[in-house]
Amino acid sequence: MSPLREVPDRVSAGSPNPISDMAKYQQMYDYALEDLDRFWLGVAREKITWMKEPSIGLSGSFSEIPDGPLSWFNDGKLNVTESCLDSNLASRGEKIAILWEGDEPDECRRITYNELHGEVCRAANALKELGVSKGDRVIIYMGMVPEAAVAMLACARIGAIHSVVFGGFSAESLRDRVLDCDSRVIITQDEGMRGSRKIPLKDVCDEALEGDTPVQKVLVYRRTGGDVQWDDSRDVWWQDIVPEQSTECAATECDAEDPLFILYTSGSTGMPKGLVHTCGGYITFTSYTHETVFDLREDDVYACMADVGWITGHSYIVYGPLANGATSLMFESIPTYPDAGRYWDMVARHGITIFYTAPTAIRALAAQGNDFVTAHDRSSLRVLGTVGEPINPDAWNWYYDVVGEGRCNIVDTWWQTETGGICITPIAPATPTTGGSATLPIPGIVPLLNDADGNRIDGEGEGLLCLEYPWPGQARTVWGDHPRFVSTYFEHFPGLYFTGDGCKRDSRGYYWITGRVDDVINVSGHRMGTAEFESVLVSHDSVAEAGVVGFPHPIKGSGVYSYIVLQPDETWSMDFADELNLLCRKQIGAHAKIDLFQHVPGLPKTRSGKVMRRILRKVAEGEPDALGDISTLADPSVVDAIKDGAKTL
Ligand code: WT7
Repeated sequence: MSPLREVPDRVSAGSPNPISDMAKYQQMYDYALEDLDRFWLGVAREKITWMKEPSIGLSGSFSEIPDGPLSWFNDGKLNVTESCLDSNLASRGEKIAILWEGDEPDECRRITYNELHGEVCRAANALKELGVSKGDRVIIYMGMVPEAAVAMLACARIGAIHSVVFGGFSAESLRDRVLDCDSRVIITQDEGMRGSRKIPLKDVCDEALEGDTPVQKVLVYRRTGGDVQWDDSRDVWWQDIVPEQSTECAATECDAEDPLFILYTSGSTGMPKGLVHTCGGYITFTSYTHETVFDLREDDVYACMADVGWITGHSYIVYGPLANGATSLMFESIPTYPDAGRYWDMVARHGITIFYTAPTAIRALAAQGNDFVTAHDRSSLRVLGTVGEPINPDAWNWYYDVVGEGRCNIVDTWWQTETGGICITPIAPATPTTGGSATLPIPGIVPLLNDADGNRIDGEGEGLLCLEYPWPGQARTVWGDHPRFVSTYFEHFPGLYFTGDGCKRDSRGYYWITGRVDDVINVSGHRMGTAEFESVLVSHDSVAEAGVVGFPHPIKGSGVYSYIVLQPDETWSMDFADELNLLCRKQIGAHAKIDLFQHVPGLPKTRSGKVMRRILRKVAEGEPDALGDISTLADPSVVDAIKDGAKTL
């Protein structure tokens, strides 16, 4: 068994955390388990500002989800922005809420809670002027500017439902989301900035809105001043309408279960699903986990390197940290601009104490050598976090020893877009850690491992990760498609939430996530569905069939491997591979790139015509001799061709 690293003194000393050692963790875990309703209701009442306090915890159960969504704190009423903004004004009005670092290292903005409150109210009033009201959907397609957070909170202020679309997505992907959630207003910016490159956000928006769409107004924040097309009847400059509004806007009263946002995420079909998160449960769960896991203290400078286009940005840049009155750093650029020392330069300049990023970034930076790290003072750091994919022990050890100089604890936080917040993780001042394990569930979360037949595995073992009981932060449904929600998460093992991840549990009870067991791949922390790639590939006239799987990639975690069957009479060339990648970029987005192409005579299929993806996976993973039983294949000779032509990086 791998050795444990005890919590460094610097992390445990003086911790205000109720969970400051393992004995307290165990007590709290048991206390929560005894009565989950009592536990979560207690958290909700203590941490959240309610207009009407809830008296009910959970209503419903996993078994009843096919009949309709479950709910938490059903009789509570609130507006989440009161927890994030108003409640901080008296004691923290002049504290920095958002510390923004722009693309260039000398471009910083420091926005206090007082200022953020005023800006959010202004933007909320502007949205009202544009005709947005409670329950309306608003798409946000922006880069990492503070106004993206302001836009999210402005929607929440008036009870509108935001759906942030990551700025790397293509016009087609943006259009799909606009249509799916029927949004009448989009908030975007002229251009984004990343590593001195301009990202044409408004242009992409214009393209997405060609033809019929429900969109009536596009609110455009001017970031770069670059030239953009303008439609006078539809487009409105943020700078023309937001600053003139009042800095007061009464918070709209919402039910605890009113949707707060929709976030699209990849699944097993070509069309991403819009997961719906609701107000009361989500804000309770994100604020609790943010405070507890990172061991937040009043003077912390907390920095999460995610993008607001993903769930990490929602939960741990905006909602969780602001609900806790933290100073949350928002970063517009990339880790390698102007050089691979950017993160550590920021740590030194801003005195960052808690730093949260993804394994892919850690691996990429480790590969650049230690000098980029050691050139900067990192003595302010206390807690380091990772999220998004399994972290290999080498990268973990580098993070621990080189970045943290052995003074910091690492919280390897396992969770998903669906879970809303962190579920399995070390708690910074309490949990001894070991590279590669997300360690233990937080109080109130009950993991369970099943074998493929649904038999529960007790003690040490390996299986499919499920969660046994509901928790407040979980997604309630898929927007407009509850049956899809049920079939994706609750049909494999009736009565349990199935995560889609494989997982080991060791003799200590620590969890080791092994990765997705379904057709979702995590590429550099971006979640993509193999079916999304396949549907793009077969849309090309020369492609007859395509099979896409993930494979282990030294930096990205998973790479994308594609098997291409051409139409008769077509010939394969590397230029054609480039053409297919261009198509993926256009139809999905800039982050959708296939790493390896293999031209094959056919896909391995059963006699009933089902593609045996296991074979595709094993060959891509470099294990062509571990294919298992292939006797059910319609044409076993295809397998030899696939094995013979296997590609590697
Ligand atoms: C999938 C969810 C959670 C926010 C970012 C990704 C993988 C996430 C870990 C971790 C191993 C992890 C899982 C999960 N994952 N965190 N600490 N260790 N794997 O959210 O895009 O919804 O992806 O990311 O496979 O199912 P997401």
